[in-house]
Amino acid sequence: MSVLSGKNILLGVTAGIAAYKSAFLVRLLIKKGANVKVVMTPASKDFVTPLTLSTLSKNEVYSSFIKEDNENAQWNNHVELALWADLFLIAPATANTMSKMANGTCDNLLLAVYLSAKCPVYYAPAMDLDMYKHPSTLEYFKKLNDFGNIQIPAAIGELASGLEGQGRMAAPEDIVSLIEKHILDALPLKNKNLLITAGPTYEAIDPVRFIGNHSSGKMGYAIAEVAANLGAQVTLISGPVSLHIKNEAIQVINVISANEMFEATHRYFKNCDIAILSAAVADFKPNEVALHKIKKKEETLTIKLTKTKDILASLGEMKSNKYLVGFALETQNELENAKTKLKKKNLDLIVLNSLNDKGAGFKSDTNKITLISKDNKIVSFNVKLKKEVANDILQHIIKELYLSLIHISE
Ligand code: CTP
Repeated sequence: MSVLSGKNILLGVTAGIAAYKSAFLVRLLIKKGANVKVVMTPASKDFVTPLTLSTLSKNEVYSSFIKEDNENAQWNNHVELALWADLFLIAPATANTMSKMANGTCDNLLLAVYLSAKCPVYYAPAMDLDMYKHPSTLEYFKKLNDFGNIQIPAAIGELASGLEGQGRMAAPEDIVSLIEKHILDALPLKNKNLLITAGPTYEAIDPVRFIGNHSSGKMGYAIAEVAANLGAQVTLISGPVSLHIKNEAIQVINVISANEMFEATHRYFKNCDIAILSAAVADFKPNEVALHKIKKKEETLTIKLTKTKDILASLGEMKSNKYLVGFALETQNELENAKTKLKKKNLDLIVLNSLNDKGAGFKSDTNKITLISKDNKIVSFNVKLKKEVANDILQHIIKELYLSLIHISE
C-alpha cells in the first residue's frame, strides 16, 4: 500500500506545455489511492482542459475566485481548499508562477491557495534550458526552498523549443516516487524494526481440545498496522485469530502454543529495536498432551497443568538497549499490579487495561489504557478505537525514544 493512499492531494497546474502530463499525474495519484483535487491557473486551460482533469480526478476543478457556472455568484474558498490538502503539488510550475510564489504575488486562485497552505508544498519546474539556468530563476528556487517548499528538479532531455538540456518537467512516475520516498524518509519509525505479539495461545489437551482464552488479537494487529504506517518494519507473531493483514511492511508469523510463541519471539528479538508484547499468552499448559481424544468415561477429569515460559520476562532479562513494552490486564489493584510487572519484567513501558473499565477488553473494538513508564510517569487515556489506542502507544514510545536520544547526545 502506498503512503499516498487516503491522502488528500491538491494538484496545481500552471501554463506550460508540460501541463498535458498533469492528466497522467492525476491518474497515477488516484491509482495510489489518493483523493485528488485540481486547481489551475486560468492560462493553463489553454494546455489541458478542466474537463479532462475533473473526469480523471472525479472532482470539480478550480481555477477562478468566483464559481464560473453560478448565477448567484459564489466564491471558491481558497483557504478551505488549502486546508483540505495533506499535500500540495504544483506540476508543472512555470517560471512565472514560481516568481510570484517567491514574491508573495496573489493574482489567481492557485497562488491564493499556495499562500494559505499549511501542508508540504512540492513543485516541479518546467521551462526551457536557458530560463532554468537564469540567475533570477536560481534565486527564486533558493527562496522557494528556503520557505520550506520541496523542489522536484526538472529532467534533462528534449524540450518544446527543440533544444536539449535541463528543463523538462520530471516524469509523472518520478514525481510520484519522489514524493512517496520523501514522506517515507520523514516517518518517525523509519528504519525501526518492531516485534509484536498478538492474540491468544492454545495449549493442547488432546488432538481436539485445548485451553485458550478470548483474545481477538485486535489490539496487537492495530499496533502492527499503525506502526507500519509510521514507517516501521514489523514482525507480528500471531496466535490463532481470525484477522488478516495485507501490508508489505508486516511479516506475520503464525503460532499456536505459548511454546511456539516463545521460540518465534526469541528468534526475531535479536533484530528488533522495539518489542511490544500484547498477546494473551496462556499462563499454564497441560503437563501432557493425550495422544488420542480423551473419552468421557469418568464423572470428573483432572488435568495437571504446568506454567508456560514467560516470554516477556525472558526478553526483559536480555533486552540491553531495546525498548520493551508489556501489557497488563488487571481486575483489582490495577496500578500497583502493573507497576510491579513493569519492574519485575524489566520493561520500559507497560500498557494497563482494567477489566473494570467499560469499553476495554478482549473482543471489543475499543480499549481504555493507562501507560506507565519506567520512571513511573503515568498517562491515562479515554476509551478509544483500538487503532487510535495503537497510535497513542506508538506516539508515546516515539516521544520517549526521541527524548532519550536527545539526552544521550547532550
Ligand atoms: N506474557 C508473556 N508470556 C507469558 C505470559 C504473559 O509474554 N507466558 C506477557 C503478555 O503478553 C503481557 C504481559 O506478559 O504483555 C502480562 O501478562 P499477564 O498475564 O497480565 O501477567 P502475568 O505476568 O502473567 O501475571 P498474572 O497473570 O499473575 O497477572
